[in-house]
Amino acid sequence: MNIEIIDIPKIENSLGNIAVIENNSIPFEIKRVYYLYDIPFSAMRGGHAHKNLQQVLIAISGSFDVVLKDGNSAKTIVLNKPDKGLLINNKVWRELENFSSGAVCLVLASDVYKEEDYIRDYDEFLKSEK
Ligand code: TYD
Repeated sequence: MNIEIIDIPKIENSLGNIAVIENNSIPFEIKRVYYLYDIPFSAMRGGHAHKNLQQVLIAISGSFDVVLKDGNSAKTIVLNKPDKGLLINNKVWRELENFSSGAVCLVLASDVYKEEDYIRDYDEFLKSEK
C-alpha cells in the first residue's frame, strides 16, 4: 500500500507543544492546505482516489479512521495525534469515517483542487489499477 506515517517535527514544552510543517518535512511541495471541521459523527468523507495528487492528512484535533484500499489490500489507520501525518500517495482509495466530536482533519496537498484528478467510482478505480 503506497502510504506512510510521517512524524511531524515538534517543539515540546510543559506549557504546550508546537508542531511545525515545512516543505522539507513532506515528500512533495505543498500547493494547497485545507481542513475539514464540524464533521458529523456519522459522516463518511473521501470515497475517492486521485490520479496524481498526493496528500498528507493530520488529525489536528480529535480522531478519525482512514480506510485505505489499493485493489489488492485494505487497511484502516486511526489518526488521533497532531504530530503524525498520513501520506496517501496517488492511486490509493480512501474513506474517512468515525469522526470524534471536535475532529479537525488538516490536509496538505501536492496540487490545487482539480476535479479531473479524482476517481470517484470504485469500479473505475479497480479497473485503473489493472
Ligand atoms: P472532496 O475532496 O470530495 O471531499 P472529501 O474527500 O473531504 O470528502 O470534496 C468535497 C466537495 O468539495 C467536492 O464537491 C469538491 C469540493 N472541493 C472544492 O471545491 N475545493 C477543494 O479544494 C476541495 C478539496 C473540494
